[in-house]
Amino acid sequence: MMRQAGRYLPEYRQLREQAGSFLKLCFTPEFAAEVTLQPIRRFHFDGAILFSDILVIPHALGQTVRFEAGEGPRLDPLTSEQAIDRLPLAVDQAILAPIYQTIKTVKPQLDAKTALLGFCGAPWTVATYMIAGQGTSDQAPARLFAYEKPKAFARLIDRLVENSIVYLTKQFEAGVDAVQLFDTWAGVLPPEEFTRWCIEPAARIVDGLRRHRPGARVIGFPRGAGAMLADYVKTVPVNAVSVDWMADRAFVRERIQSRVAVQGNLDPLALLAGGDALDRAVDSILQDFRDGPFIFNLGHGILPSTPIAHVERMLARVRGG
Ligand code: CP3
Repeated sequence: MMRQAGRYLPEYRQLREQAGSFLKLCFTPEFAAEVTLQPIRRFHFDGAILFSDILVIPHALGQTVRFEAGEGPRLDPLTSEQAIDRLPLAVDQAILAPIYQTIKTVKPQLDAKTALLGFCGAPWTVATYMIAGQGTSDQAPARLFAYEKPKAFARLIDRLVENSIVYLTKQFEAGVDAVQLFDTWAGVLPPEEFTRWCIEPAARIVDGLRRHRPGARVIGFPRGAGAMLADYVKTVPVNAVSVDWMADRAFVRERIQSRVAVQGNLDPLALLAGGDALDRAVDSILQDFRDGPFIFNLGHGILPSTPIAHVERMLARVRGG
């Protein structure tokens, strides 16, 4: 389940308070390993998701990143070409070492049938936060920057591509079974920009990763890609794609599931609603994707107010209980 470790769990909220700050939680392997395992103990999901955040890369590049309670992430925005060129070319791996240690701590605590999933943010999405300094409704600041200063923006994307290759390679070395590339803000890009800032960097990351780790398994998640998802799977050599809840399932079945595995795509609000609405939504997804490779999941992250009983109901339904 996307964002399966998080605020909807009381055991998470307790540890989050104990850690003090969100980044402390991410960079303390004992805490991060515990949070990674919490949803596995409770729900026996098929996959444990490394507990971290996509914004650890800007943090490791020296940008100030804060997570204010109830506000989401806040970064000191990059507003000029000079600010981009001042970023180091390579992140200091000592900063990321605790994350690899979390993976090494979690791995032996999982049984053989539970996958360990690593991840990183896709360059476009990470860049949108680096430029705007926060999430906005349509990530206009980064879109504008990319139109006005495409060369500088490309240098930022290149840095993120190179660092993501190293970061994901090291996650595999530490023990993950597969990784997901989160392009949460892919859907705000028009087709040509989608190709340039979402598809091309993702392809470079997967190719680069496989030069170090041939056969490394990668799930792409260009959220909101719509019909561009067909171009994405044609060009980015992923093993699977995650699909958001807005996607047309007939299109995904015919054009996507025929090439790669599909993961998704329950509306997190259907999970929040629960009851018959949830049952119907689960059944229709299982029906629509039954004839090809499929991983049941949410179409985006679980909402913090989701009742635990609804997660249990969803799981029982998916597992035929
Ligand atoms: O089980 C898991 O999936 C947990 C690991 C995880 C987190 N963030 C923990 C987290 C993962 C895979 C992410 C990815 C992430 N982070 C994305 C891409 C996926 C997506 O959901 O779109 C993005 C865009 C971010 C950046 C980010 N981090 C945002 C926008 C927020 C605020 C979210 C909110 O609901 O307030 C965060 C904080 C964050 N990352 C939380 C968690 C559990 C909540 C922090 C808290 O208050 O404890």
